[in-house]
Amino acid sequence: MTILVTGGTGYIGSHTVVQLLEAGHHVLVLDNLCNSKAQVIDRISQITGNPPQFIEGDVRNRKLLKQLFADHAIETVIHFAGLKAVGESVQKPLMYYENNVSGSVVLLEEMAAAQVKSIVFSSSATVYGEPQFLPYTESHPLKPINVYGHSKLMVEQVLQDLALSDPAWRVALLRYFNPVGAHHSGLIGEDPAGIPNNLMPFVAQVAVGKRAQLSVYGNDYDTKDGTGVRDYIHVDDLASGHLAALEYLKKNAGVLKVNLGTGQGTSVFELIHAFEKAANQKIPYEVVARREGDLSEYYADAKYSKMVLGWQAQYDIDRMCVDTWRWQSQNPNGFND
Ligand code: NAD
Ligand code: UD1
Repeated sequence: MTILVTGGTGYIGSHTVVQLLEAGHHVLVLDNLCNSKAQVIDRISQITGNPPQFIEGDVRNRKLLKQLFADHAIETVIHFAGLKAVGESVQKPLMYYENNVSGSVVLLEEMAAAQVKSIVFSSSATVYGEPQFLPYTESHPLKPINVYGHSKLMVEQVLQDLALSDPAWRVALLRYFNPVGAHHSGLIGEDPAGIPNNLMPFVAQVAVGKRAQLSVYGNDYDTKDGTGVRDYIHVDDLASGHLAALEYLKKNAGVLKVNLGTGQGTSVFELIHAFEKAANQKIPYEVVARREGDLSEYYADAKYSKMVLGWQAQYDIDRMCVDTWRWQSQNPNGFND
């Protein structure tokens, strides 16, 4: 099958492209490189022996999309392209709505014009907001607490309205929990620009000596050890969830909304200890005040994904840390090495 992958040089996109190529698909990657590097394509070819076709460009570029759909027999789109920094989204809401929402609308218009009506969309557990109950099931109320979360929920709404207007659409809304880890080759992984916002890349940079110590944002939450609890999922499990979603869409029209998580909650202290084991070294940390906007605890109900996709996560937190450490230690400066 010929698949257009937007944002395919990014963290989750690149791991998914590897699995798509390994499954024999023809892959076109469209990315404007605003948060990734072209070297990723070389690394993907090193892993698979088979490079995807790379087009440097923007999903908001209508002319380019028209050309792509005219030149290639694209059957489905996996839409990763978007901006994802929560703090930045609050400071620059228009930039986030323009890229994430308007960008998706342009893509969908051009897909419709080309009669390509199958899409897998990167949504996020952030659409649920403050937990009314845990684990979050897919029917949990949707009440995002920041601009980034609203932009994801808006695109979910656009896709649902589109599918209502035309039953030919096949849509998978994948609500990711916290993606971490890296490909076992150590050739691709998460390469944040600047100071990492997220826990795992920060811990990895402390371990490799790029940061002096970790700040633990609060140990007074009502959780197992007082630190924040999340559902970390290996990026390769997340990637295989996309292949399962493509199989589902071959057989089913309409809209699928599904969590991609493990169902397991891990605290900040538990993650630090797992990483210390993986890297065989102590991670210096200091407990500081809570981070504004952080939720205390959340994790997925993973039953529906298993039932509807026949998919479940395989890797535990120890493996996530081992693979993150391999990537970080082999590439201390990410793709700049
Ligand atoms: P990433 O930043 O590594 O990848 C996104 C890619 O999209 C980047 O390569 C970037 O250059 C590209 N891009 C951004 N805007 C573009 C545009 N207008 N046109 C073309 N390319 C563009 O992020 P990621 O972690 O791989 O996330 C992928 C998707 O999953 C995003 O939509 C993100 O919001 C969503 N998501 C991520 C997480 C997470 O924690 N990583 C969690 C839930 C959902
Ligand atoms: C963040 C985003 C969320 C997004 C998710 C994607 C915020 C407020 N939320 O969530 O919208 O969907 O990333 O993965 O940015 N922590 C520390 N020290 C650090 C970094 C984090 O103690 O230096 C703690 C946090 O308080 C939290 C846990 O580690 O308890 C995980 O944090 P992080 O990796 O940033 O993920 P989220 O908070 O889930």
